[in-house]
Amino acid sequence: MPPISRNLTRLTMATLLLAGQLSPAPLLAKPATSASAKAPVDAAGWMRADPKMDRFIADLMAKMTLDEKIGQLTLLTSNWESTGPTMREGYKDDIRAGRVGAIFNAYTAKYTRELQALAVEGTRLKIPLIFGYDVIHGHRTIFPISLGEAASWDLQAIKKAARISAIEASAEGIHWTFSPMVDIARDPRWGRISEGAGEDVYLGSLIAKARVRGYQGEDLSRPDTILATAKHFAAYGAAQAGRDYHTVDMSERTLRDIYLPPFKAATDAGAATFMTSFNEVDGVPASGSRYLLTDVLREKWGFKGFVVTDYTSINEMVPHGYSADLKQAGEQAMNAGVDMDMQGAVYMENLAKSVAEGKVDTARIDAAVKSILEMKYRLGLFDDPYRYADEKREKATIYKPEFLDAARDVARKSIVLLKNKDNVLPLAATAKSIAVIGPLGNSKDDMIGSWSAAGDRKTRPITLLEGLQAGAPKGTTVAYAKGASYAFEDAGKQDGFAEALALAAKSDVVIAAMGERWDMTGEAASRTSLDLPGNQQALLEALKRTGKPIILVLMSGRPNSIEWADTHVDAILEAWYPGTMGGHAIADVLYGDYNPSGKLPVTFPRNVGQVPIHYDMKNTGRPIELGAPGAKYVSRYLNTPNTPLYPFGFGLSYASFAYSPVTLNKAKIRPGEPLTASVTVTNSGARAGEEVVQLYVRDLVGSVTRPVKELKGFEKISLKKGEKRTIRFTLTDADLAFTRQDMSWGSEPGQYTLWIGPSSATGSEASFELTE
Ligand code: NOJ
Repeated sequence: MPPISRNLTRLTMATLLLAGQLSPAPLLAKPATSASAKAPVDAAGWMRADPKMDRFIADLMAKMTLDEKIGQLTLLTSNWESTGPTMREGYKDDIRAGRVGAIFNAYTAKYTRELQALAVEGTRLKIPLIFGYDVIHGHRTIFPISLGEAASWDLQAIKKAARISAIEASAEGIHWTFSPMVDIARDPRWGRISEGAGEDVYLGSLIAKARVRGYQGEDLSRPDTILATAKHFAAYGAAQAGRDYHTVDMSERTLRDIYLPPFKAATDAGAATFMTSFNEVDGVPASGSRYLLTDVLREKWGFKGFVVTDYTSINEMVPHGYSADLKQAGEQAMNAGVDMDMQGAVYMENLAKSVAEGKVDTARIDAAVKSILEMKYRLGLFDDPYRYADEKREKATIYKPEFLDAARDVARKSIVLLKNKDNVLPLAATAKSIAVIGPLGNSKDDMIGSWSAAGDRKTRPITLLEGLQAGAPKGTTVAYAKGASYAFEDAGKQDGFAEALALAAKSDVVIAAMGERWDMTGEAASRTSLDLPGNQQALLEALKRTGKPIILVLMSGRPNSIEWADTHVDAILEAWYPGTMGGHAIADVLYGDYNPSGKLPVTFPRNVGQVPIHYDMKNTGRPIELGAPGAKYVSRYLNTPNTPLYPFGFGLSYASFAYSPVTLNKAKIRPGEPLTASVTVTNSGARAGEEVVQLYVRDLVGSVTRPVKELKGFEKISLKKGEKRTIRFTLTDADLAFTRQDMSWGSEPGQYTLWIGPSSATGSEASFELTE
């Protein structure tokens, strides 16, 4: 077998990864967490004891050589697609030689069948492959990007999107998705903010569960369910300065309170696999972190699935300066708890030697192999390795009309109305001529965003122009001029302006479709500015000067800094990248066929200088409210308010909702005793609508300082015009738990403030006490 360095064709980074001959890194100094392994909730059913499986796997493993075992620990990409810096051209030979346990970036019933045959017909033990793929927000039918889905605050809809993704993906030979991405992300410079559920721990944890359950269904042995992956473990979202792959350094408390809970939620929901992250945490790369992978994940949380690395992240421990060479990196990863090596071939190349030298225990290898074989068994692949590769089923499944309808529905739910001056939206019947202007107005490519799996970005996506034309009332015309460009290099140009301005001048209303090109967010897509790229801002300002009503439809995968637009345009819709049916969904909202109900899952800063900014910040010793307006020695900026442009949880509706004062069933609760907080919400607007009623809490004094607000509950309700409903939330002290000064997890007695309202910034307030 040639050394991998000869096969790694893409990119010099590969050379870099393989280069290091550095001094060994110190061992991890983290204390182990409590080792009380509690089995997670058996949501997927796959954790049930299965003596027949145990016997089968024990017999199989008894026959396996060490090399065959190491083969099971290797995941390689096919050459169908590239999602990382390296490619191993000889992957088919590797499969035939039994050096591979799983393949990713290969799909369709036909192709996965062809590759599966290499494994089950060509190898001694005929062990089937698992096929993995990045099915992130849809497989063929593409839903809004994950951050957009999160804006729906609709857990059933999010679960359904994952379920449909699994049905389509499994019909194309895929057994395993590298989703959900459950990284808390609070820095919009980081392009991968688009891939998660936003900034909040509570919302993010519930969405993590919904997605895991959607992918895995109730029973992994059903051929339309796929393994979920909670990624990227851990703290990847806190990359310094928002630069992808950058260092992460945070307190143990922040790690436990903010970044780990969505992963814990994914474990509790039965996530079958975990993916490590590229970053280091407290000086230790995640793929070498025994603390994360063994102490926390397996011993504390009771995770029973298998852990895969992210792409070549074992190799990357060399440039990180944690491993002297690849052999040591492999040992560190295996001993830390990494079962499967994605694309780096470090285990393949080095592990046998490490075992021979006694650096890695065979028991540890056996545990890793067993966890992978068990998943193959649970998926039914030992009964029929081709059960996911059925061309008839594939044909009958992908792009089913009901999937497309669901994608349109989730897209409508994900759209957030950020401004609506004088109720300019929904478009009035008098708007007889509509001008769609901007680079995102008729761009199929952009509609489905990044990580769109096998989604077709050339023909299927419905653009905004197409959606508006299809839904236009009789006698209304919809015309398009691109006008501007989002390409960075086009800043300063004005090529299309004249045409766009002429169209605006003869139209009743302008829909400015602006934002970012689809690949300006996602992996390796960090920015130092959140402004509209290219010459879009200049065109927007020129359009404003026409005096026509301007509606900005923003399509992007991150919060953009749109303070100028907030001041000057008439209405703003955040549409994210809304997916295959996106154009129809936006048109539904603009025409008023759907009343917008999305709420921001992430704070919109006024400008990039406010970053990081999130609603659950700390008060500081000099909060701005303590000083007179303009006071000097308080925590503030000279040039920008502390408040964001749009707070977390914010989103308008064409209806309006009035909140009554909050009532509590008690002023004091003891540990374990429930507190019920109630509010009556009335639809005081002129039409039916949906509202996300949100509950926040503040712990006023703690053994460590506490955030100014934390989301602790929400309910999405639908109210007819004039209808009112009383919403009741129940809390106990368990909901108030955090990592206390002594690092124990629990609540503390004292005074609390509670709000129920339409966003993190406003709400009806009440107080209660938690007693000893
Ligand atoms: C790298 C990305 O970080 C990860 O999210 C993805 O699942 C893998 N590549 C596989 O494509």
